[in-house]
Amino acid sequence: MARVIAVASGKGGTGKTTISANLGVALAKIGKETIVIDADITLANLELILGMEGLPVTLQDVLAGEADISDAVYTGPAGVKIVPAGISLEGLRKANPDKLEEVLYSLLDIAEFIIMDAPAGLEKSAIVALASSDEFLLVVNPEIASITDALKTKYVAERLGSKMLGIVVNRVTKLSVEIAKKEIEAILEGKVLAVVPEDPEVRKAAAFGQPVVLRNPKSPASKAIYELAGKIAGADVKIEESGKGFKRLLSIFKRR
Ligand SMILES: Nc1ncnc2c1ncn2[C@@H]1O[C@H](COP(=O)(O)OP(=O)(O)OP(=O)(O)O)[C@@H](O)[C@H]1O
Ligand SMILES: [Mg+2]
Repeated sequence: MARVIAVASGKGGTGKTTISANLGVALAKIGKETIVIDADITLANLELILGMEGLPVTLQDVLAGEADISDAVYTGPAGVKIVPAGISLEGLRKANPDKLEEVLYSLLDIAEFIIMDAPAGLEKSAIVALASSDEFLLVVNPEIASITDALKTKYVAERLGSKMLGIVVNRVTKLSVEIAKKEIEAILEGKVLAVVPEDPEVRKAAAFGQPVVLRNPKSPASKAIYELAGKIAGADVKIEESGKGFKRLLSIFKRR
């Protein structure tokens, strides 16, 4: 039975899609059956950052009752399964977001993790995504506006019956004005599971349509995301170098 984890935020642009895609790939890489579903049907871009655009059947078609979910599940990098949202405006008009929970339900038996890239804000599609999840990760940037908006999302998600798994602080630089991890934990009343640095490799990888955790597994952001995957999966993940340059070897040392 899959754990359905929504990747949510208050403000837009904090890094939800980046975290969802790369966390999904990292979980797949450590041997977990994982589906990443793009629940942001108005501004879909999961498929773009994974270099999988133009897929024939999408979540929009499924939510419109015109396709079966099994036809909208594709195999992506490192074997992660992807459900793209679709980018057609006509498809968006026909899609009924209320069907999302039913769609997720039919995926529960084929994965261990369903990572859901949730829309920003608290519009209907965001509410439906949060309500359909068991747990959520809050992706914030170390700025006060990002954190106060995330607090609203947290309250709403909890009211909808989802449990906060933890906080991901993304795009962290060394600037002293940035809010410290401890303060973020106090404001959001939760644990910071990952501090992901601002890392130029993230954008480079996205421009090439490749997950940064595969393209550059040793980059600072990738390391933080692998660690996050290990925590979520209950395993310690180590990225080792082999004798021949930068070859990736992931070892699972212990399982909870
Ligand atoms: N750690 C990082 N270092 C550098 N750039 C990053 C990092 N995380 C995300 N970005 C960049 O920030 C931008 C926004 O990221 P992303 O699209 O993942 O945010 P989002 O929360 O999904 O946005 P939206 O709310 O619009 O869906 C992208 O250009 C992405 O490449
Ligand atoms: Mg996004």
